[in-house]
Amino acid sequence: MNATLSPDRRAELLTAAMTDAEKQTLTFGYFASTLGPDQPKPPEGSRAGSAGYVPGIPRLGIPPQWQTDAGVGVATQGAAAVKRERTALPSGLATAATWDPDIAFEGGAMIGDEARRSGFNVMLAGGVDLMREPRNGRNFEYAGEDPLLAGRIVGAQIAGIQSNRIIATVKHFALNDQETDRQGSGDSAIDRAAARMSDLLAFQFAIEAGNPGAVMCAYNRVNGPWACESPWLLTDVLRRDWRYPGFVMSDWGAVHSTVASANAGLEQDSGAPFDDKPYFGPPLAAAIREGAVTHARLDQMARRIVRSMFAHGLLDLPISEQPIDYAAHAAVTRKDAEEGAVLLKNEGALLPLAPALRRIAVIGGHADRGVLAGGGSSLVYPRGGNAVADLKPTSWPGPVMYYPSAPLDAIRKQAPGAIVRFADGTDVAAATALARESDVAIVFGTQWAGESFDVPLMLDGDQDALIAAVAAANTRTVVVLETGGPVLAPWAERVPAVLEAWYPGTEGGEAIARLLFGETAPSGRLPATFPRSLAQLPHPQAPHSGETRYSEGGAVGYKWFDKTGAVPQFAFGHGLTYTRLAYRRLRARAEGGTVRADFQVTNTGSRAGVAVAQLYVGPVGGGWEAPKRLGGWRRLALAPGASSAASVIIDPRLLATWDEGLRQWRIAAGDYRVMLADSARDIRETATVRLSARALPADWKPPTAHALH
Ligand code: BGC
Repeated sequence: MNATLSPDRRAELLTAAMTDAEKQTLTFGYFASTLGPDQPKPPEGSRAGSAGYVPGIPRLGIPPQWQTDAGVGVATQGAAAVKRERTALPSGLATAATWDPDIAFEGGAMIGDEARRSGFNVMLAGGVDLMREPRNGRNFEYAGEDPLLAGRIVGAQIAGIQSNRIIATVKHFALNDQETDRQGSGDSAIDRAAARMSDLLAFQFAIEAGNPGAVMCAYNRVNGPWACESPWLLTDVLRRDWRYPGFVMSDWGAVHSTVASANAGLEQDSGAPFDDKPYFGPPLAAAIREGAVTHARLDQMARRIVRSMFAHGLLDLPISEQPIDYAAHAAVTRKDAEEGAVLLKNEGALLPLAPALRRIAVIGGHADRGVLAGGGSSLVYPRGGNAVADLKPTSWPGPVMYYPSAPLDAIRKQAPGAIVRFADGTDVAAATALARESDVAIVFGTQWAGESFDVPLMLDGDQDALIAAVAAANTRTVVVLETGGPVLAPWAERVPAVLEAWYPGTEGGEAIARLLFGETAPSGRLPATFPRSLAQLPHPQAPHSGETRYSEGGAVGYKWFDKTGAVPQFAFGHGLTYTRLAYRRLRARAEGGTVRADFQVTNTGSRAGVAVAQLYVGPVGGGWEAPKRLGGWRRLALAPGASSAASVIIDPRLLATWDEGLRQWRIAAGDYRVMLADSARDIRETATVRLSARALPADWKPPTAHALH
């Protein structure tokens, strides 16, 4: 308990004082809820209706690990009778759409505070699987298709959670990029170098920025072996190359062996009884007795677990249940929702709406009652309960949840003089009649996504037809989307305005109305490409069982579109606001073995707004997985007429390719194009920089976490 010693030293001393049985206690976790009346009861000492529990060792002052899901707030698991009602952030993808690590940190700090005050010291949050498959049902939990953006945002969220002196868990390591067949023969097959430059790079950036106490290995197989028994992932990449000091916990039911898992680098088998049979616990004790797992490895497992417990304050700052400041937290989630919504289209400056409008039609999406949330283990139950309680499925991966923050009420508040009427959209004729007699029609389009299933790339049910009919009835139609990720928008050319609000969290209705009426200006940017058709995707067929060979390698999202010349519906990085922004005076030069870019952004319009100036890079002579990569960005809030100078220093790994033979990042000598852009398809200025050859070791990190921006 000598807090002046390093976590490593403390872990060493503590492990030396443990018996083998005590070490093994730390390596075995239980599900802390029940799946139904005939199912095993949660263990004594656990927090009711939560994800996980690892018993402590009272003799040595080691507290239990009380583990809760997840990325948008404190969730409730299983068939628990009492739901924990907590604040929910917008989806992970919405937070990624802010392109704002400070917002991600604040959101993380807020949900981490609720976790601590709810009695949890481990939050199973920090989802950073790359969006390779836009139909992945869990894309809403992650941070999009670009490794730098996803890694920085999720890293900041992890740092925010851990600022409460609890552990966060980056997950699901790795390539858990679809839900179909995730626990069967589902195998993500990919060239190793390509993985280093895409999915694994997102994890690497998140770990560097967030320093999570734990890594959760995934359900799926990667190039053959299960992720939780992959020596390549858990030892070669994570330990040897990244020098990760924390521990690896499994996903719930993701373990399939004792010896292979323990020796590959798994430290904690989570969520008993989710595995088909116990693998750690008594079988691990037997493997140790027989010498198949060494004592040295058991020591290392225990040491890594308590090392994270020390490093993140679990022993020094015990948790206790405390009241939560919900009013303050509502402001945090609302701000995230406002910054994360993306204005995809705004012809004729239809938005912001004038408060003086007389007749407003609000149509569909249960907008009279609330806003949609994603399903599965990450689901947070809101205060006030489900606003639309009877939708199917009502149990796992449901319930389909609407947070009681009704856009209709919030719109009425914004336009007190207007007659605001609602049509639920089930009767298309009634909806179009209402649209026809209104000054503006706001139609909501929803897509429910969740864990354990993938989704078609479209709105649920017949909403595309409803939107097309409303747009035909009123040329002043605004579409508000609440989706897990990208959807096809066959009506996109026929509606003047589209706002993507994602799953906007427990204050989502308020946020949507404030954006529509310009009380705040949209500033979100797409963290993922919206395709025009399935044929544009690297895998046009729906996700399938068995092996998925990612032959596109690192060409994920916009990189694939650039490489194939496909024109998306809405590009990565795209997002409008209510003012005009000019990007100019790009100057780029080689500096310290990488590229530094300086530029200026000016608000040339008449309203305040936020620019997200994006820097893309690519070798003039080609040779990468795709013509360009995002190298960095700056988010700048500008008053009307204001200008701001900014610079970006590009992480040199983004100028390199991974050499699997030499295990190095290698920058090829030559000319590189540096592009100052407003989206992946809206390049405003270009400069060229000549770089010399450079090699960076596998464990290269930026000198300080904040050296690059
Ligand atoms: C999910 C994890 C989650 C765990 C515990 C699993 O089904 O994949 O993301 O943390 O359950 O609830």
